[in-house]
Amino acid sequence: MKYSIPRGTKDILPSETSLWQDIEDACRKVFGLYNYKEIRTPIFEKTELFTRSIGNTTDIVKKEMYEFKDRKGRSLTLRPEETAPVVRACLENNLIGPDQITKLYYIGPMFRYERPQAGRQRQFHQAGVEVFGASDPLIDAEVILMNVQLFDRIGLKDIEVNINSVGCDKCRPEFKKQLKAYFKDSVKNMCKDCKGRFECNPLRILDCKEAGCQKYIDDAPASVDTLCENCRNHFEEVIKMLDYQKVNFKVSKRLVRGLDYYTKTTFEIVSKGLGAQNAVSGGGRYDTLVQELGGKSIPAVGFAVGMERVIEVLKKLQVTSCKLQVINLCIVTMGEEAKKLGFDLLVKVREKGISADMDYLGKSLKAQMKMANRVGEKNVYIIGEDEIKKGCGILKNMETGEQREVPFDSLEREGLK
Ligand code: HAM
Repeated sequence: MKYSIPRGTKDILPSETSLWQDIEDACRKVFGLYNYKEIRTPIFEKTELFTRSIGNTTDIVKKEMYEFKDRKGRSLTLRPEETAPVVRACLENNLIGPDQITKLYYIGPMFRYERPQAGRQRQFHQAGVEVFGASDPLIDAEVILMNVQLFDRIGLKDIEVNINSVGCDKCRPEFKKQLKAYFKDSVKNMCKDCKGRFECNPLRILDCKEAGCQKYIDDAPASVDTLCENCRNHFEEVIKMLDYQKVNFKVSKRLVRGLDYYTKTTFEIVSKGLGAQNAVSGGGRYDTLVQELGGKSIPAVGFAVGMERVIEVLKKLQVTSCKLQVINLCIVTMGEEAKKLGFDLLVKVREKGISADMDYLGKSLKAQMKMANRVGEKNVYIIGEDEIKKGCGILKNMETGEQREVPFDSLEREGLK
């Protein structure tokens, strides 16, 4: 009997994991620069957390949840996204308050029962951030800028930010009214889901993926045209900041997110290097969700990056783990005694947090040096018979070619990180 992996999931193999680690490291560094702290929540939550926050009429809730009953008959769901769990955790642990800014980030797997295709999986990974407590448009700009900076840092080129505003509770009724009037005659020709959406939540029609419905959706009213004064000013401020910071963005009136909790700003970053599933990240403001989930009225904004899609683009750009991650030290040895000594030093430098490796295959000096060069090690420390006699190895900087003698007992203090 041969077992195969479940549909829509993928093994991340050793040849890829260093690229994953590099990207995760870059996320941690960039999010850290902006003072975000990591939060980790369970992989599953009570189902109603997601139905309530993402919205009953969304595709995620209607068709894509991995919902199951536990042995006591409680309905649980593998998290399809992380915004709602973060809000739940913040409320349960008193991490947020009206006069307090809380900045959090997460990295981990999410689950959606979608039709698998390039860039779309049933288990995928997100790295995301959520900021609570700030209604200032500057913070919308900050998260977008941070997302752009992150992509820049990991070498993701040719991206574009699509931005829109979906308004608030005050202006949305007018938008809904206009949508109802617009779709009144065409809804009979649209798909079954859209007929239902027309009754319950006409905004969701705009997110329909059926080809037959697109021609009706293309000319539908846009939310930016019905914004109340407050939402319009907010949107203009965000745009001004992005302009000022020279972000490559476009106002996209057709940008509809697949989750119901958004208010005001929504955005997606798309990569020209991807096919149909070209959004490498998405997010926006959600000023009412905290209250809807039982907290005080606390504004919030965030986004999540789709890790698999980022990796896909990087692979196309031929960015490999080797170029991004360098081993700082390679210990090259000649002879058995040198090998044992080398191993001892390897353990010591790793304890000091220096990434280091050595050859275990008994290769020649030339082959070991060639290998170190190929995988991009920054420094090589050479130990042969002469060096053992002197108590000193030769430390060679592979970038500059400079080399000098360094005693065995001071290698770990060489600042090789
Ligand atoms: P989302 O747009 O549903 O937003 O997902 C964010 C990103 O996750 C997408 O842009 C995409 O790159 C990736 N993604 C989504 N579904 C899949 C899939 N099936 N396979 C591969 N990648 C996928 C959210 O999840 C919101 N929670 C983001 C957010 C945070 N909004 C505010 N704060």
